[in-house]
Amino acid sequence: MSRAPRSFDRLARVYRFLEFLAFGSTLEQARFCLLEEIKDRRAILVLGEGDGRCLARLVRLAPEAQITCVDFSAAMLARAAAGIAPADRARISFHRADVLVAPLPAGSYDAAVTLFFLDCFTPAQAAELVGRISASLRPDALWLWADFQLPAGGPVRWRAQVWLKILYAFFRWQTGLPARELPPAEALITVAGFAPAAHRDFSGGLLRSVVFRRRDANRLTGA
Ligand SMILES: C[S@@+](CC[C@H](N)C(=O)[O-])C[C@H]1O[C@@H](n2cnc3c(N)ncnc32)[C@H](O)[C@@H]1O
Repeated sequence: MSRAPRSFDRLARVYRFLEFLAFGSTLEQARFCLLEEIKDRRAILVLGEGDGRCLARLVRLAPEAQITCVDFSAAMLARAAAGIAPADRARISFHRADVLVAPLPAGSYDAAVTLFFLDCFTPAQAAELVGRISASLRPDALWLWADFQLPAGGPVRWRAQVWLKILYAFFRWQTGLPARELPPAEALITVAGFAPAAHRDFSGGLLRSVVFRRRDANRLTGA
């Protein structure tokens, strides 16, 4: 059974500022470096959108796309909606929902976007969620993912461990986040049948962006 998350509402206004204070523009780079990969997609599921920075770019980049945007925070969704021009509103649907319990219709999307989102969940929650996101995607779908990660070793790993302790403590305090550590998101997506098509690492490996494609996409689509 899932417990409804306490909301990111109180952070919505300052989220961008805090991010730049802590990381400069690095998260922004990690978020957007592979966004172009999904520009020809027609039905895009954006989970945990946040304050709308990704959505605003995506709307410009993918003018044909219908975009479904899910977030539990009403304040985040309000900011995201405010950044969209009236002409684009009809092709975006906003849903305030806890993705741990919200239905994700099977086989409905040709792209999923989860940016700094799967790291909000415990390993068990993330495993369950990754399976449900995977089921909501069509055989030829792409999945754009970015998160923090622990570099393999050395001083960059220690630095990452310190950052992650600080970040999880902060978000737990502010939002009641259930997670205490990074879930193995990339491994879970891989186990769900996806393989990296392109990737980038930032800040000595502290941040990672990957666009995944299903390993058996050609067989499933008959291409
Ligand atoms: C760390 S922020 C990331 C926001 C944005 N994607 C980014 O790149 O910065 C996580 C977002 O996920 C949303 N979120 C967290 N848990 C959620 C849940 N269980 N259901 C829906 N949204 C959730 C929060 O409201 C917040 O907007």
